[in-house]
Amino acid sequence: MQGESTQAMARILVIDDHDTLREGMAVTLTRAGHTVSAVRSGQDGLAAYRKAPFDLVVTDLKMDGMDGIEVTKSLKALDAGAVVMVVTAFGTIETAVQAMQQGAYDFITKPFPPEVLRAKVDKGLELASTRKQVERLTARTAAHDTDAALTHGSLVGDSEPMQRLVSQVLKVAQSDATVLVRGESGTGKELVARMLHQRSPRRDGPFIVVHCAALAETLLESELFGHERGAFTGAVKRKLGRFELADGGTLFLDEIGEIPASVQTKLLRVLQEKEIQRVGGEDTFKVDVRVVSATHRDLQAEVKAGRFREDLYYRLHIVPVVLPPLRERPEDISLLARHFVAKHAMRVNRRVMGLDDSALRALARHAWPGNVRELENVIEQALVFAEGEQLTDLDLPSHLTASGTPRVEAGLPVLQGDRPLPDILEDLERQLIARAYEKASGVKTETARLLGIKTSALYYKLEKYGFLPKGTPPEES
Ligand SMILES: Nc1ncnc2c1ncn2[C@@H]1O[C@H](COP(=O)(O)OP(=O)(O)OP(=O)(O)O)[C@@H](O)[C@H]1O
Ligand SMILES: [Mg+2]
Repeated sequence: MQGESTQAMARILVIDDHDTLREGMAVTLTRAGHTVSAVRSGQDGLAAYRKAPFDLVVTDLKMDGMDGIEVTKSLKALDAGAVVMVVTAFGTIETAVQAMQQGAYDFITKPFPPEVLRAKVDKGLELASTRKQVERLTARTAAHDTDAALTHGSLVGDSEPMQRLVSQVLKVAQSDATVLVRGESGTGKELVARMLHQRSPRRDGPFIVVHCAALAETLLESELFGHERGAFTGAVKRKLGRFELADGGTLFLDEIGEIPASVQTKLLRVLQEKEIQRVGGEDTFKVDVRVVSATHRDLQAEVKAGRFREDLYYRLHIVPVVLPPLRERPEDISLLARHFVAKHAMRVNRRVMGLDDSALRALARHAWPGNVRELENVIEQALVFAEGEQLTDLDLPSHLTASGTPRVEAGLPVLQGDRPLPDILEDLERQLIARAYEKASGVKTETARLLGIKTSALYYKLEKYGFLPKGTPPEES
């Protein structure tokens, strides 16, 4: 068998359901001296990879069955070192960006001449071999420590509000008090909840998350408290609730403002008695759980409006932790931006080390209605397009850069014939959405109301413009 690759020759897998294109790529790469396997579906590709890993995979994005994004994701799950390039059609940059976020190292836009394919494949192979060398060399160095710090979720920011917040979080972590974390969308509430756990005496216990907004009422109840076999139709087995799973650790109730009245009552009882009863069960069990909850809502207003139980509010609110929006701590923007470059550059295989002044200026001018998450999205996208060692304003999405923020004349963008109407309209749409989102403090139903559109349409647009991560489950309908 000639499976072993030499420097010049690599084993390459081509996945494309289009016969002509697949064969074309196979011929080009075979002529370049590689050993090529070509298959017509993502499933076949994964099966082949499982048998014997390839040095590099080229996959089409749009395919019936498994698409290129799923292929990339599955390959990376199978082998974190997999080197994947995706083939996209003209005008589908957004999908290409998604593929890069899943770990593809590059994309190529159809139609392409053979030499471009060869060059991009060479780049991928070179990258893979450098990465292997680097991995070998730096197994136990500073880079490793930074990585650990990044994955352990440290809060970045040295503005005064952030310094105060961090010292408060460290102090509160030591106690067993129930904490309510408040803040606009994307300000870092979940990160704070994790930090509260990691810095607490319970750090070796479990950290269990419940996204309260994503579950229907009955599901939420059995998710939290568990159920006995036969408790309701479909309850074929006993199921442990998240409270039981979190025993000895921390339970994070995200979007607590969304839980329905019946669950509010049960939750209150559990917090008071420190014991739970599974749905359909008779017995009660003691649980040792610290509860941290989070909301982007003004819960006090919800209490006044009669939508949230006052007694539960006081139970949850024993220690409030409030996250300031990014616009109130502009000093943190450049630090966070550098942090996200370091966090994501390796993952998308870019050798970017930082940001230049033009990029930092553009970031400083923006209002960040989607807060830190929006900034993180912007940096991730910019990295995909970055060519040099520093991100510049040219790598940033157009709405952040001077030419992308149209100058206005009598309230309308200046027309110079340099931007087509659809671009101008997109910019306006983005700005109006940003303004509504900010005005509504990130509450989606309110944002949608201000804009006069349905919440579902708003979700689509928030994701399109990077204010929310793709595939965010709607939390309010
Ligand atoms: N201070 C920070 N330092 C580093 N990363 C941060 C910071 N704040 C937020 N992030 C990152 O920004 C992203 C959004 O943060 P997180 O999910 O905690 O926000 P959230 O307040 O829970 O948002 P939402 O209300 O939309 O659920 C995450 O990837 C998180 O790691
Ligand atoms: Mg969150």
